[in-house]
Amino acid sequence: MDRFSILVGDITRSDAEAIVSAANTSLLGGGGVDGAIHRAAGPALLAECRGLGGCETGRAKLTRGYNLRASYVLHTPGPIWQGGHLGESALLAACYRSCLSLAAERGIRSVDFPSISTGIYGYPLPMAATVALKAIMEFLREHDLPQRVRLVCHDEATAAVYRQTWNLWYAEDKACRM
Ligand code: APR
Repeated sequence: MDRFSILVGDITRSDAEAIVSAANTSLLGGGGVDGAIHRAAGPALLAECRGLGGCETGRAKLTRGYNLRASYVLHTPGPIWQGGHLGESALLAACYRSCLSLAAERGIRSVDFPSISTGIYGYPLPMAATVALKAIMEFLREHDLPQRVRLVCHDEATAAVYRQTWNLWYAEDKACRM
């Protein structure tokens, strides 16, 4: 089984055990993929989120998936791009690591990520792809869970950047195949 792959799709339709929402620190929903996940999961998701007390940028919190096919949602607020000199890359890497660590702790076997922070939060896609793939690959090398991680891009242009970045840095990695 491929441990890591990149695909184009709608993450709200994912069959992964957990999907990641690119949230904001309130965890009370928003636009973009966060809004799509809340719409697909139904109002019970927001009700559970209300009890979580928000989430710091770079950290992650877990809820049930409700009407989603996924059993769980990992909510992680990504950094807002402010030019790259305020620790954005470290915070973005922390989003991926926090979600993967929480999934591993809970014995979750498959996790699908969106392209965190590259929409409304304005993180330049090529740089975000480098940070995301590095964080994911380093985690997968050091942990047996999750068994499968996918990057679910909403459009082909986004997927192309992740695939180019993958080929640049990880094509020789036999542990995973794109
Ligand atoms: N499936 C997969 N990816 C999606 C979907 C979807 N259904 N909808 C949007 N995306 C993609 C976007 O195209 C983008 O590549 O998710 C990526 C992240 O974009 P945003 O959702 O705008 O997230 P982000 O840039 O992290 O901004 C977060 O936006 O939605 C609000 O509450 C959220 O305030 C927070 C901010």
